[in-house]
Amino acid sequence: MTVPFFRPSITELEIEEVLASLRSGWLTTGPRVKEFERRFAETVGAKHAIALNSCTAALHLALEAVGVGRGDGVLVPTMTFAATAEVVRYFDAVPIFVDCDPVTLCPDPTSIRAALEALNAGRTWPGVPPGTKPPRVLVTMHYGGLVGAMGEYRRLADDFNLQLIEDAAHTMPAAFRADATAPWEAVGGASLVTCFSFYANKCITTGEGGMATTNDDAVAARMRLMSLHGMDRDAWKRYTDQGSWYYEVVAPGFKYNMTDVAAALGLAQLGRHQTLWAERRQVAGRLTAALADLPLELPFEPPDRQHSWHLYSVKLRLNELRIGRDQFLDALKARGIAHSVHWQPLHMMPYYRERYALRAEDFPVAASLWPRLASLPIFAGMTTDELAEVTSTVAALLRANLR
Ligand SMILES: Cc1ncc(COP(=O)(O)O)c(C=O)c1O
Repeated sequence: MTVPFFRPSITELEIEEVLASLRSGWLTTGPRVKEFERRFAETVGAKHAIALNSCTAALHLALEAVGVGRGDGVLVPTMTFAATAEVVRYFDAVPIFVDCDPVTLCPDPTSIRAALEALNAGRTWPGVPPGTKPPRVLVTMHYGGLVGAMGEYRRLADDFNLQLIEDAAHTMPAAFRADATAPWEAVGGASLVTCFSFYANKCITTGEGGMATTNDDAVAARMRLMSLHGMDRDAWKRYTDQGSWYYEVVAPGFKYNMTDVAAALGLAQLGRHQTLWAERRQVAGRLTAALADLPLELPFEPPDRQHSWHLYSVKLRLNELRIGRDQFLDALKARGIAHSVHWQPLHMMPYYRERYALRAEDFPVAASLWPRLASLPIFAGMTTDELAEVTSTVAALLRANLR
């Protein structure tokens, strides 16, 4: 038996919605995109939602909207996917890396504060070239679907006058609260801009796609404008009888709009997102129960966070094992269990390492954790047999290789 790393949950509902959009004759941005934006904003409790063709586009537009420019420093995690930092480079700005929390793998507020204090006092920080402007923007990221320390990120944003942008590629839905008894706050309306991904393996998918949410009217207007060539007015309406052929280009924008075909898929998925989430939670619970006694640190949900369970990423206790992470993953592969690693820290990737003269030990938590990380399959609709195959294979492999 083989088990995929992920399998999108596509039902007749998604197929019918996509067929209806194809039959409507309106393929690109149109009424379904507008409806998807409206319902998404309502779901996460944000004033505006802008549907885009990726989360990367959302992150790029967010930085553009807050005015990031050449030589600006932007705080980003090193423990993240390429997109979080590459968008900083689109502006010839400087990614200022920060380390991750050793348990959650989300950006560590202590590391962020240390970077800010050093740079604001004119001291150095790893990889930051002289002349870089002190950061005005913090891009955070919720690892695997577990919300980071939002209270502390917001405090840092207040203390250092930073714009807070969330890379929430993994968190639909997820929530957090100030303590175990406070009311929940959904991810999506809690910072200046929140950026979601609907890539094929995400909690809800449009194949490729993303959404930016914000409560700020000016930021929303700028992002919308720049998402479609910098064309003013409702440019997407120009071929409808409510629109006009006339538009003006007021900025050199991008081509980041979502299609109606993708939004049709998104609407069906959004309608099912609570069910999809419940299924992921159930899979996570079963994985945790079955893997509890092994030389692994397992992901968990603290009482002040709701996990989306996009990923089920474990940390191997290598000191209790005779094999390394790569051998473990090779053995899983040989037994038909698909897997991944999230992630090799960005400061250790050739581009950033060479361009900014970074050393692995500059961010020691991320550097020491990454050889221990392994992501196991988790998805809505995972069968009991698939789950049993994963847990029994992992358990047998680890038990056979105990020190
Ligand atoms: C943390 C993170 N940010 C951003 C992205 C980029 O998302 P997209 O593929 O929608 O651009 C991903 C994709 O997996 C991600 O994991």
